[in-house]
Amino acid sequence: MSQQYQHDVLVIGSGAAGLSLALSLPGHLRIAVLSKGDLSNGSTFWAQGGVAAVLDDADTVQSHVEDTLNAGGGLCHEDAVRFTVEHSRESIQWLIDQGVPFTRDDSASADDGGFEFHLTREGGHSHRRIIHAADATGAAIFTTLLAQARKRPNIELLEQRVAVDLITARRQGLEQDRCLGAYVLNRATGEVDTFGARFTVLATGGAAKVYLYTSNPDGACGDGIAMAWRAGCRVANLEFNQFHPTCLYHPQAKSFLITEAIRGEGGLLKLPNGERFMPRFDPREELAPRDIVARAIDHEMKRLGVDCVYLDISHKPADFIKSHFPTVYERCLKFGIDITQQPIPVVPAAHYTCGGVLVDQHGLTDVPGLYAIGETSFTGLHGANRMASNSLLECFVYGRSAANDIIAKLGDMPMPEQLPGWDASQVTDSDEDVIIAHNWDELRRFMWDYVGIVRTNKRLQRAEHRVRLLLDEIDEFYSNYKVSRDLIELRNLAQVAELMIRSAMQRKESRGLHYTLDYPELLPEALDTILAPPTYVD
Ligand code: FAD
Ligand code: SIN
Repeated sequence: MSQQYQHDVLVIGSGAAGLSLALSLPGHLRIAVLSKGDLSNGSTFWAQGGVAAVLDDADTVQSHVEDTLNAGGGLCHEDAVRFTVEHSRESIQWLIDQGVPFTRDDSASADDGGFEFHLTREGGHSHRRIIHAADATGAAIFTTLLAQARKRPNIELLEQRVAVDLITARRQGLEQDRCLGAYVLNRATGEVDTFGARFTVLATGGAAKVYLYTSNPDGACGDGIAMAWRAGCRVANLEFNQFHPTCLYHPQAKSFLITEAIRGEGGLLKLPNGERFMPRFDPREELAPRDIVARAIDHEMKRLGVDCVYLDISHKPADFIKSHFPTVYERCLKFGIDITQQPIPVVPAAHYTCGGVLVDQHGLTDVPGLYAIGETSFTGLHGANRMASNSLLECFVYGRSAANDIIAKLGDMPMPEQLPGWDASQVTDSDEDVIIAHNWDELRRFMWDYVGIVRTNKRLQRAEHRVRLLLDEIDEFYSNYKVSRDLIELRNLAQVAELMIRSAMQRKESRGLHYTLDYPELLPEALDTILAPPTYVD
């Protein structure tokens, strides 16, 4: 039997964004936080390098703002950048107050006013401003915030619940639109339950799983972006897919990330013959922004016909490497690579979705009562290329800002009345799940081949043609068979892929992460690519 639930706030996603929002709401509100797998399912748990913030006395808000604008290729919204950076110090203080065990700086002394935590450096940053917990910052943050959420009786943490679609007033035939909650598949019962809520928050992470090779965990399928689109929300800048330059190249490693902080601490990129190549591409060398480094690696791999390049930190003392990068050290050792002695074979892989659901400074979408925060959202912060470690920062700043907006609007949003249950009367059990697996593979392969680091009109047209065929096939499957996690994810991935391709086709220039051989130049005016669904009402 499917169930009906009511909450003041329904948070779809239990990563950095969802948990920081839930923890910033008052204790009298009934809050549900959903995860489609285990609670640690998202990217947050895997974050390595850290969180960017203005913490050192020698650093300034202006410098962090300028670095972000430079990395963003002229497309960042300066107000969003300034808003985020200005709230960086207090967000970090909030995390420290929650108990996050950031790595301390042994050389700093409280007497001379030195900052007590170690700050590392990453590409695009002109200062040391990345606070971290060795090279497992995400795990430290996630574990701490989850422990805090578990202490709060008003927060229900629900695992193995896959949101299928949002419930909106307009879909119920009402004139005045607002979000009323979501239909959610309970993987334990196989039933789709109805979650009514005064406020609904999409904190579902990114969509890098749309590519064959990715640093992201399996759930990064753009579910929130696709659900928001179907509910009538605009999306923006989905052509900007960030490829992390350095993922471990090893047949069994499944794109394990090698943190950029290794380059921040002196790691050098080398060709198979040991020669450095980044000085030929950018004066900032290994610490150029990610789009430049990933493209340089892609260029060198194609030029030489090699499978990977190498990241070498072995010239640093072994103790330093083991204490700063214990996770990377252990993981590489498991694959027979001792990073204190030898270079690491690396390749670029899809890492971050810079575009997303268009929101304001409080994470509010086009549909009243519906928020999008974290990697799902488009705030204007990242422009055409996200600067390293600005993503977690965005999760905390906007998670807390959305919570404040919800608090301010509590009086205006009544609990939705009884909502219609999920209608499964027309569907049966699928006897052809192989179609899902096949379509999933096909989608991720053609996105990698045709909508990757270097694009052309022809490649994009091929991708567009194929995604349309897939969407038709998936729609038919969805109309006839019961939903499963795989089917929901495939449907969403295909939808987001279509939006990415459409956005890429609209951009007739090369800017930041969007690089096309047909339009290699930069246009004089930097414009966002904003797409509106047929259901969008201005
Ligand atoms: P996530 O942490 O991805 O969480 C998404 C949540 O949504 C999960 O709980 C998932 O189960 C849930 N969900 C999704 N769809 C559904 C659905 N349909 N129904 C129910 N639940 C759903 N950024 C930095 O700033 N610094 C770093 O050092 C850094 N390192 C990184 C390293 C790696 C390997 C990766 C992959 C990313 C890294 N990033 C880093 C990026 C950053 O980690 C992510 O952008 C950020 O964690 C996203 O947080 P989020 O809360 O938006 O989503
Ligand atoms: C990394 O540690 O290299 C990832 C940092 C990020 O994605 O911001």
